[in-house]
Amino acid sequence: MTRIFEPFRIKSVEPIKFTTKTDREKYLKEAHNNVFLIRAKNVLIDLLTDSGTSAMSAQQWGAIMTGDESYAGAESFYHFEDAVKNIMGFKHVIPTHQGRAAEKIVGALFGGKGKTFVSNSFFDTTRGNIEYSGAEAVDFLTDEGKQPALIADFKGNMNNPALEKYIQERGAENIPMCVLTITNNSGGGQPVSMQNIRETSEVCKKYGILFFIDACRFAENAYFIKTREKGYENKSILEICREQFSYADGCTMSAKKDALVNIGGFICMNDDKLAMEAKNLLIIMEGFPTYGGLAGRDLEAMAQGLKEVLEEDYLEYRIGTMKYIGEKLTEAGVPILKPTGGHAVYLDAKAFMSHIPPHELPGIALTNALYVEGGIRGVEIGSLMFGKYDDKGDYVPATLELVRLAIPRRVYTQSHMDYMCDIIIDVYKKREQYKGYKITYEAPLLRHFTAHMESL
Ligand code: F0G
Repeated sequence: MTRIFEPFRIKSVEPIKFTTKTDREKYLKEAHNNVFLIRAKNVLIDLLTDSGTSAMSAQQWGAIMTGDESYAGAESFYHFEDAVKNIMGFKHVIPTHQGRAAEKIVGALFGGKGKTFVSNSFFDTTRGNIEYSGAEAVDFLTDEGKQPALIADFKGNMNNPALEKYIQERGAENIPMCVLTITNNSGGGQPVSMQNIRETSEVCKKYGILFFIDACRFAENAYFIKTREKGYENKSILEICREQFSYADGCTMSAKKDALVNIGGFICMNDDKLAMEAKNLLIIMEGFPTYGGLAGRDLEAMAQGLKEVLEEDYLEYRIGTMKYIGEKLTEAGVPILKPTGGHAVYLDAKAFMSHIPPHELPGIALTNALYVEGGIRGVEIGSLMFGKYDDKGDYVPATLELVRLAIPRRVYTQSHMDYMCDIIIDVYKKREQYKGYKITYEAPLLRHFTAHMESL
């Protein structure tokens, strides 16, 4: 792949402020060497997340002006509901202000002490909401997904034999729900095949377990199915999306990803009684069921975004961007997680900064080097995020040391991506000169967001 063709013209722009390396050294120092604590205006290319960072289309901005802000029964709700039902086909559509609010309601409805939720890989907030209810959350990712260097088509799949064995041991009555995350964010944005969705659904049906999809990146997943799975090459993205959801009893969605909006989410389900219970919780937590923590205009933006995300030109550009970056970096010898997934490129910091041992946070060394050298903000997914202390107080590093470069939707152009690759390759060439870090302050939970660090 030699070119990314952005399938849009730019009508509205935001300036990027240029900074020098000296400026950035100062900003990073002021932020205690933690890129989460840097002001966004001092970042050139912000790849912290693909969530809520999409550029909306002129049609979405236009729809925003037509938002019906009525408390109950707003027209915007019906536009939104129609758009969701058209793709997902569920009977009940319940808006929430973002994905984790949907997960909170699911956790409150189905969770509780003594229960276990199962998944290919739970995203952190989903796991958090389940554990907060007193239940536990267990992952059954396919073995292929656990090998960063292995090239395979569907590394996000559920390991169904392992899942079924677990259900038999644990007892189906203790497992209220199975959540299949498509694409699998925690596993590198890797897709789940249609066959795997179908098989997971069959296992759940056999044991009477509710089968939900974490649908954040459902359209990106559908594109991978179309381009990689036999029998789907001539189906439309809409047909593939519909089939994905046809196997499930419901879904939770962060619309901040594949609905191409800056805020929003929802829960879907088919069961009338459960939907009524979910709506009752929604009223306490989020708002009346026809707005659920959002403004009418947000519902309009989602309705329109859900149409645009199905466009094949868009998805080709989207998935093609990751592929383009992946090929460029691989050609230069930069170690990355392979194959590239749907929403991000992951640098393998353990191999990249092989002279820095895990307890000196190689992922932070790389993240900070990218910021200082080029104003690029990625996120460490390694020992700062997942490192622990055992019972004796000894340090236990994370299994993988990754740096995620999540690409916002429709925001950056090929020249931004080329610039980013140049910086990464430059840092790779002089990698030996970068040093590790030690933590000087850490919060008891989710320390990566607020930690202070010092260069060694
Ligand atoms: N599920 C998945 C798979 C996600 O990636 C996210 C968010 C959520 C649920 C929660 O949705 O943020 O709207 O509450 N992922 C973002 C990320 C934060 O950067 O990967 P939310």
